Amino acid sequence: MNITIEQLTPAIGAVVSGVDLSRPLDAQTRDAVEALMLAHQVIFFRDQALTEEQQRDLAAGFGPLHIHPIYPRCERVPEIMLLDTALNDLRDNALWHSDVSFTETPSLGAVLLARKVPALGGDTLWASATAAYDALPDTLKTYLGTLSATHDLAKSFPAERFGSEQLAAAKRSNPPVVHPVIRTHPVTGKKAIFVSEGFTTGIVGMEPPMAEPLLAMLYAHVARPEYTVRWKWRAGDVAIWDNRVTQHYATYDYGDAHRVMNRATIMGDRPF
Ligand code: OGA
Ligand code: MN
Repeated sequence: MNITIEQLTPAIGAVVSGVDLSRPLDAQTRDAVEALMLAHQVIFFRDQALTEEQQRDLAAGFGPLHIHPIYPRCERVPEIMLLDTALNDLRDNALWHSDVSFTETPSLGAVLLARKVPALGGDTLWASATAAYDALPDTLKTYLGTLSATHDLAKSFPAERFGSEQLAAAKRSNPPVVHPVIRTHPVTGKKAIFVSEGFTTGIVGMEPPMAEPLLAMLYAHVARPEYTVRWKWRAGDVAIWDNRVTQHYATYDYGDAHRVMNRATIMGDRPF
């Protein structure tokens, strides 16, 4: 094994070469990939021709897998979620979010494979919520550490585009949840801002006229270019990210072009 890495920005992101993700990873390689994910928060691999089964098995090496309540899944391999513009209107991913923060135990991370990408556009951006946190003034860090926020699935799956019985059922089984505004990474101990435009709906005990500007300031702060990386996909690229301390944004700038991504989602812990 000869793993090399190229960091993409000081805050977040690295390209990893020398790993064939289609084969079962030996313990040493698995641990190396996990360490790189923890260190760089999102890591990218080129030219990985994975089958759905191989993608599932790769992700399962990092924890039990999650099946999404709304998005379509691969029939043969239900742990593979389909982000396919032919199946869904995917504009709702064009906002900053941390996946499934509307559950009590949002995902640890995900393995995303590009199957079909537009000739131009459809880039995905990730932001480091730890770098954003670190840059806050100490007094604000302390204050934010006392707050909790509500997260609601309904915010990112509007009824006009996901208006199905399935959406209604997903809402019933996923009532709004409360998470700390600042969460601590269970492995690295780093603190991160854990509110996002995608699913956060309010701050516990604070009226909307005060909570909304505070939340808007935090969303804008996390999304500052200094804390982000932008990835230009080629088919066969794989991204693995730490969903606990990052947010991402799937750019929707490719009109009617067909874009297909497959995601395997790793289950996580309750944020603290
Ligand atoms: C995701 C997502 C990213 C993309 O997979 O969680 O938000 O690039 N989409 O489609
Ligand atoms: Mn997402």
